[in-house]
This record gives sequence, C-alpha cells and structure tokens, in this order.
Amino acid sequence: MAITITMGIQKGGCGKSTTTGILGYLLSQDGYKVLAVDMDSQGNLTELLSKKPSNEFVQKSVLEAMQRLDPTEYIVPVGDNLDLLPANNFLATFPRWIYTGVTYLGEKIRFEGNPSMILDETLEKVRDDYDFIVIDTPPSLSEQTTNALCASEYVVVLFECSNWCYSAIPNFMDSVDGARRHGKRNTKVLGILRTMNDVRRSDAKAFNEMIAEDYPNEVFKTIITRKAPIGRLSLYGFDENAELKQALDQYENFYKELMERVKGR
Ligand SMILES: Nc1ncnc2c1ncn2[C@@H]1O[C@H](COP(=O)(O)OP(=O)(O)OP(=O)(O)O)[C@@H](O)[C@H]1O
Ligand SMILES: [Mg+2]
Repeated sequence: MAITITMGIQKGGCGKSTTTGILGYLLSQDGYKVLAVDMDSQGNLTELLSKKPSNEFVQKSVLEAMQRLDPTEYIVPVGDNLDLLPANNFLATFPRWIYTGVTYLGEKIRFEGNPSMILDETLEKVRDDYDFIVIDTPPSLSEQTTNALCASEYVVVLFECSNWCYSAIPNFMDSVDGARRHGKRNTKVLGILRTMNDVRRSDAKAFNEMIAEDYPNEVFKTIITRKAPIGRLSLYGFDENAELKQALDQYENFYKELMERVKGR
C-alpha cells in the first residue's frame, strides 16, 4: 500500500511543484514505484515531469479521474518507476462540478459523500500499485488542497522565508488537523521544508530562525537556497539535464531526512 505525501502551503511560489517533482524523481531513482499527482490547475508539475504542455492532457487528467473515481485510464508513465496523473486549467472547474453535479462538459455526475474525500476514493484503485504517491497542490486552501490533504498520510509544508508565508503557516497547520479529523488517513505533518532561501537577506535568516523556534520538531535541518539550476529544472527537466546534479544536491539531504522520518513512524 502506497505512502501518500502532499506538498502544500496556501502561498504562491514557495517551491511546492519543484519539490514534488524532485521528491518523485528521487524516490523513483531510489527504486520505489511512484505516482505523482498534480492537483493544481496551473499544471506545473505536469509540465515538469511530462515535458509537454498541460493542454495536451485536456479530458485526460486528474479531473476526469476523480469524476469517474478511477485514475487507471489517466495515468501516464514519465520515467523509470515514475508515473503521472496530470492536470490542466480545467481542474479549476473542480469545485463547480462538486457543488452542481455537472462537469465542465455538461455531464451529470454526482459524488455522494464528503466532497473532500473524492481524491482519496479515486486513488484507492491504485494504492497497491505504488510505494509512494506524491501530490502537488495549488497556492490556496481550496477543494483541491483539502482533497489532497484528506488523501495523504503525510504533508510536507513548504516555507519560503517571507512574512506572508510565515502568516500562512498556522492556518495551513489547522487544515492538516482538519484532514486528520475528517479524513481516513490520519493525516500528519511530516515536516516543514524551508525553501528558496536567499542567503544574502538578513530577514530571510530571521524567518528561518523564527519558524525553527515555533516548530522545532517539524523543521527539516536542510534549508534549500535559491539556485539557478533548481529554477531551470522547469526548462530542462530531469532527463539529459547537464546541471541536474547541481539542481539536486541540496534536495538529496532533504530526501535523506524525509526518508528517516517516514521509516521512523
Ligand atoms: N530553490 C530554488 N532556486 C531557484 N528557483 C527556484 C527554486 N525552487 C523553485 N524555483 C523556481 O521558483 C518558481 C516557483 O517555484 P514553484 O513553481 O515550485 O513554486 P510553487 O509553490 O509550486 O508555486 P505555485 O504556488 O504557483 O504553485 C518556479 O519558477 C521555480 O522554477
Ligand atoms: Mg506549483
């Protein structure tokens, strides 16, 4: 049975998609069978892993998988041991579908049950096929995010060292608590990853320290700094990327810490 990990924070541009892609890649390289699920209508994880425009997955995405409560037809292989359940802009119609029972194509499909549990139920069909499922979320506490949280055992909270991200953390932690109470997977925060750190900025250093004081047991020791090869992963991807090693080196340390926590639980 797969272990499911969601990357999240309701603040934009904190490294959620990058971290989801890298974690999926590192797990797959380590020999684990991995499914990466894109729950963000921006489709950034989809483009990072598939190297195709997310529009290529219109009517072939996680949205249709959830409407049919079966992802099998929509999963695409993107690497050795690595599969993707893609997303595109139409995922933005997910809430409208949930609350009207009408899909963006005009089909009448009603989900009977808690609307936050649709992804959890959908993934049920494939959990035994994978060792890990990693999920990317949008920068909001939307239905996509609550579905991802309720479908996950673990959550990695992304913290980009800024004031507005700092103020997003408590509400996000409350949402994880809500998923633990209402969902079936005993959802827990696995850790807080400090990302996109600008080593030249004293305020970033201060926020790093504040978050470690507030959440001493949650913060990962590894801090991911801003580094051009990490940013350029969105351009070059993982295959035949001459600077892949530089893009991944800090994330290798995060990966070790994460696996120690997963195995220790
Ligand atoms: N450590 C890093 N150093 C440099 N650039 C980075 C780093 N991590 C991510 N980036 C770049 O910063 C931007 C934001 O990262 P990413 O898209 O992963 O964040 P996100 O939290 O998923 O954003 P959104 O909230 O919009 O979904 C992207 O252009 C990405 O390529
Ligand atoms: Mg993203």
